[in-house]
Formats: sequence, structure tokens, C-alpha cells
Amino acid sequence: MSILGLGTDIVNIKRIEKILKKNKKNFIDKILHSKEKKGKKITAEYLSKKFSAKEAFSKALGTGIGKVIQFNEIIIINKSNGKPTIQIEKKAEKRVLKKLKVNKAKYFISISDDYPFALATVIISK
Ligand SMILES: CC(C)(COP(=O)(O)OP(=O)(O)OC[C@H]1O[C@@H](n2cnc3c(N)ncnc32)[C@H](O)[C@@H]1OP(=O)(O)O)[C@@H](O)C(=O)NCCC(=O)NCCS
Repeated sequence: MSILGLGTDIVNIKRIEKILKKNKKNFIDKILHSKEKKGKKITAEYLSKKFSAKEAFSKALGTGIGKVIQFNEIIIINKSNGKPTIQIEKKAEKRVLKKLKVNKAKYFISISDDYPFALATVIISK
């Protein structure tokens, strides 16, 4: 295994609570993929963990959030045992793999929260 990138991010959940009070629908649509909304109660904690995971991914990629990857193109889903996984939407994955200069990549993620903070670390490998 060869590591291509490492990223970490911390989010203050209180900041997300404030955003949700002002602009709930737009913010949720900007941050979450539809697969992350399905059957979920979208709380500030839930969004903060996704937000930190996605920023951590963008740092592991080395681009930040922007042209190569948008928040709602990154899909963070938990397996039945609770372990989070990362998937990238098809169109965006092409851009991601081009940036990484590989045909295939693996993503590893770890997430934690302890109010008022949520944090995540992502490793990208080939
Ligand atoms: C890269 C990005 C994720 C940094 O996040 P941030 O919350 O601004 O800043 P953080 O405090 O978490 O991290 C800053 C650190 O990230 C690292 N960093 C900066 N650009 C980076 C990049 N392209 N790749 C990897 N790491 C990067 C640096 O170490 C930086 O600290 P330093 O400049 O003192 O060395 C950010 O630029 C970004 O793309 N944010 C998305 C912004 C956005 O759309 N916000 C709207 C929300 S509604």
C-alpha cells in the first residue's frame, strides 16, 4: 500500500448550529449527497461530522473544496457495524483520480465527536 494523501479537520458544532438557524435547506443541500439524507435525522452533530470528513478528504487530496471536489460529491456512509466509508460520485471520481494520477484509489476515514467539536481524518492510498 502506498499513501497518496492524509487530511484532518475539526469543526465547531456550534458554528453549524448557527448556520442551520439561518439557512437550513441551502446548507444541507450544499453539504450532503442525497444518499446521506435518506432516512436520516439531520442534526447539527450529523452535519458537523460529515462536514469535517469532507474537508479532511479535500485536504488529503490536497485541493481543498472547489473545482476538483464539492462537498455534496463526497458520500460518507456507515456500514452496518457503524464503520464510516467514503464513496465519491462517479463524475467527481474522474477528477479525483486525475488529480491523484492513478486509475484507482482507496479511502480510509475515522470520525469522532465530543460536543462542541467534531473531527475527522482521511487517508488516501493506492
Ligand atoms: C483546504 C480547506 C478545507 C481548509 O479548511 P479551513 O477550515 O479553511 O482551515 P483549517 O483550519 O481546517 O485548515 C487550515 C490548514 O489546512 C491546510 N491546508 C490548506 N490548504 C490545503 C490544501 N490545499 N490541501 C491540504 N491541506 C491544506 C494548511 O495546513 C492550513 O493551515 P496553515 O495554512 O496554517 O498551514 C479549505 O480551504 C476549503 O476548501 N474549505 C471549503 C470552504 C467552503 O466551501 N466553505 C463553505 C462552507 S458553507
